[in-house]
Amino acid sequence: MSNFRKKTIQDVEIAGKTVLVRVDYNVPIKDGVIQEDMRICGSLSTIRYLLDQGARKVILMSHLGRPDGAYVPEMSLAPCAQRLGELLPDKVVRFSDMIYGQDAKDAVAALPEGGILLLENLRYVPDEEENSAEFAQEIVDATGAELFVQDGFAVIHRAHASTDAIARILPAVAGFLVENEVSRLEGAMENPERPLLVIVGGAKVADKQPLIDKFLPIADKIAVGGKIAADGYTSDDPKIYVAEDFAEDENGAKLDIGPASTAKIVDLINESKTIVWNGTLGMVENEVFARGSYAIAKAMGEKHDSMTIIGGGDTAGYVESVIKNSGELSYSLISTGGGASLELLSGKKLPGLEVLQDK
Ligand code: 3PG
Repeated sequence: MSNFRKKTIQDVEIAGKTVLVRVDYNVPIKDGVIQEDMRICGSLSTIRYLLDQGARKVILMSHLGRPDGAYVPEMSLAPCAQRLGELLPDKVVRFSDMIYGQDAKDAVAALPEGGILLLENLRYVPDEEENSAEFAQEIVDATGAELFVQDGFAVIHRAHASTDAIARILPAVAGFLVENEVSRLEGAMENPERPLLVIVGGAKVADKQPLIDKFLPIADKIAVGGKIAADGYTSDDPKIYVAEDFAEDENGAKLDIGPASTAKIVDLINESKTIVWNGTLGMVENEVFARGSYAIAKAMGEKHDSMTIIGGGDTAGYVESVIKNSGELSYSLISTGGGASLELLSGKKLPGLEVLQDK
């Protein structure tokens, strides 16, 4: 992890401390059931490390959805605490439905040493998104935290109380998930093994143009598919290959890249040593229009001699579903952050990363 510029949990004293960890447990939940737990699983190594190093208590905080500062029962983090308890059967895992104040203080006091407490959805309080220093201080006071660990990569592009203000109150370092994702994503941009191929899909050109612009001077080849290509994206730059054929529905809507474009992109993958993929190449919810994305996921997942990076959000969700059904595939990184990985790869500064202590 040589290129990581920030202090991590390995650079600070943990023993005897109450540690406050910002995780991103913004996971899909339907009727109280978690549909996909990649982000929860991704937080385990940091939590285990902190406890192995003798942390007194580990207090986790997260948001879920966008309740806009109001209490929305379906957006409670309670199911995530339950799932975390299942994933860490040897630990005491509890949930606090209060984030600050006396009730939260009592929940922390009642937690046995070596225990883990997940606080309720931060975004139930408007102060969270307002990046309120007072709110951050209330959390610190209630939890008695002495160290802040940022391990919510997916929310690191937000300057909120739990990602920014709090890191200005407590000593603030990165957890393993943040270190791993940032190092790999930055490594692909700063020091890639070549050839470097960037595959760009998705729906909105406005979202993806900054990514293409950022990689144009860096990448050896950029392949564009998805709705962007279907809507007529063009480029004169010989470095950019735009999908040339499409699978259509009965009304002529172009919903996936076609066989010729798929074969071309698979060839490019096979010729490359670093491959970054951001944005699905078709309407993957429908199997018929997931063929292009499936071929790309398979070609990348079989390329074990290369750095293969899957951007977060829809692309990560799709690749996770492919892995579930077809075993053998593996990737260097499946990012947990949609907006965060796109912003980082587009060259933007991430406030929740910048605020952490430098090495
Ligand atoms: C995400 O799912 O991308 C993160 O959890 C951030 O959520 P947000 O876009 O609501 O800030």
